[in-house]
Amino acid sequence: MKISVIGAGYVGLIQAVGLASFGFEVTGIDIDDSKVKMLNNGVCPLYEGGLEELLKKHIGEKLQFTTSYKKIKDSQVIFLCVGTPQDEEGNTDLKYIFSAADKLKKHIGDSKCLVVKSTVPIGTTRLLKERLNGCNIEIVSNPEFLREGMALNDFLNPDRIILGFDKNDLTSKEILEGIYQKFIEKNIPLIITNYETSELIKYASNAFLATKISFINELSKLADKTNADIKTVSHAMGLDDRIGKKFLNAGIGYGGSCFPKDIKSLIKQCESNDINPRIITATDDVNERQIKWFFEKIKKHYGDISGKTFAVLGLAFKPDTDDLRESAGIKLIDLLLKSGATIKGFDYVQKARDNAYNMYNLDKSKAFYGYNLYIFDNLVETVTGVDGIIITVEDNRLNNENWTKIFNLTHEKIIFDGRNIFDSEKMHNIGYVYMGIGSKK
Ligand code: UDX
Ligand code: UDX
Repeated sequence: MKISVIGAGYVGLIQAVGLASFGFEVTGIDIDDSKVKMLNNGVCPLYEGGLEELLKKHIGEKLQFTTSYKKIKDSQVIFLCVGTPQDEEGNTDLKYIFSAADKLKKHIGDSKCLVVKSTVPIGTTRLLKERLNGCNIEIVSNPEFLREGMALNDFLNPDRIILGFDKNDLTSKEILEGIYQKFIEKNIPLIITNYETSELIKYASNAFLATKISFINELSKLADKTNADIKTVSHAMGLDDRIGKKFLNAGIGYGGSCFPKDIKSLIKQCESNDINPRIITATDDVNERQIKWFFEKIKKHYGDISGKTFAVLGLAFKPDTDDLRESAGIKLIDLLLKSGATIKGFDYVQKARDNAYNMYNLDKSKAFYGYNLYIFDNLVETVTGVDGIIITVEDNRLNNENWTKIFNLTHEKIIFDGRNIFDSEKMHNIGYVYMGIGSKK
């Protein structure tokens, strides 16, 4: 079967490469010419573990990339994976979805179904159906649940597959069940529903996970002021099967390309339906405040931080990705720079460091910018001479570093652990002043 995937970002690339690895003939389409050239040369423009190896294996054989929509006419199925960013008011901006739909309309040819993978507000798939009215194509909603850094694994081992159909679109149901046959054989739950339910499942899942994080983050402030230890609280709560241990790690807040914008979009969707969304508004609000609260905690420790130098360990919004979108680490760097501090930044993922260079418009040879921001390629240089170390991603590699050696390199011996990844006792024993989240330990 021939398949087209429109949009070669974090989601579209996994979809294209993953389907090629299943043996389908896949054409990836993206408006970005330089990205298309890189991909056709087997070079992955973004960092996602295992993706480049798989791309290299299939490129030129089962897989190709182009900027032209013409190839669509030979595809039976088209996956729509363009970005759906947020606009200035917090609504989802659908301009890429609609412009892609308008372009593909001219080339539909033999295509049987268009599958919407991008996260879109409730009602969008139906709007697309109206927009493509008159074209001989069925439309399906099939949201993705990929976590960056784990995306290939999530593609190959999904918890569930959601397919939202219009009740009369029977051809596409058969085609999609064929594409996902491997998963159906593995008894992975397949939820067949209507467009609107499928769209809401995606928002509900992300909003629930984000709410778990904001819930524990709110309580972490109470723990911080009392003698409670939030890590132990999370652990004990998580032992209750009804609660579950995942997404209960207190920290400096959630970031990334999904949670922040999806929660804001869901709030707007409720409001435009005359509903006052109290819980998710609080989720968003707690998240916005968390990084500022952590910043104040750092400031309070020093009194005045202007002229102080900090090592910020973590640039991306989480480990194993190069994605800086809504990164708590970057937000903290901005707050510290504005207060006159100097920042030495580091991330284990080289592409995350490269993206930070580009974002701040840094000169790599000097690694310096007017704001007093330096980015280093290794951790030892980053921590040398600093007045404090700040942890901003929950990267396990940090636990394998030699913290006794690092102790001797810093000017002041203090760690602000924004992700609670360290054993506080171990750090105290080395001699550090250790300040985690939600703990006096
Ligand atoms: C995806 C989903 O699309 C989004 O709805 C979901 O919430 C998160 O995941 P993502 O893959 O992260 O977005 O987006 P991005 O990495 O920005 O990639 C989008 C790609 O689409 C880019 O390569 C861009 O060049 C391409 N694009 C955009 C097109 O090919 N055509 C367009 O008209 C617009
Ligand atoms: C998320 C969803 O998990 C995925 O299903 C969806 O399709 C896209 O959005 P992703 O954005 O890649 O995936 O990252 P995720 O692993 O969910 O983490 C999001 C943020 O929450 C990160 O900033 C992370 O540091 C933070 N987080 C996560 C916490 O602060 N505490 C936790 O316990 C878990």
